[in-house]
Amino acid sequence: MIGRLNHVAIAVPDLAAAAAQYRDMLGARVGPARDEPEHGVTVVFVDLPNTKVELLHPLGATSPIRGFLEKNPGGGIHHLCFEVEDIRAARDRLLAAGARVLGGGEPKIGAHGKPVLFLHPKDFAGTLIEIEQV
Ligand code: CO
Repeated sequence: MIGRLNHVAIAVPDLAAAAAQYRDMLGARVGPARDEPEHGVTVVFVDLPNTKVELLHPLGATSPIRGFLEKNPGGGIHHLCFEVEDIRAARDRLLAAGARVLGGGEPKIGAHGKPVLFLHPKDFAGTLIEIEQV
């Protein structure tokens, strides 16, 4: 059911420092910082040949990654995003298998303008999973 790894999201305490590290130390193609107020994050996209890394920093008091950074002050992997062809079919299959879909189960438009859902990390070995319809 899942296809490509769309991105790995990493929450970082210092977005400029993390972006510089990926650009200068790792030699990656790093885009500009972009505020995404509706998701409560500022994002820097790192383009790799086979996937992306998204560096996330909290934006606003109610940012969903603020708590994560409080628990992981040095930053850490926040979620993995897998592509699916049909997000509602994927959701129904996951629910039938007993997985917990966060946020009421209705897909929301994610950071790339495509419908996404998040799955409970406790159901996936401690890893928050995002699925995105492509
Ligand atoms: Co994501």
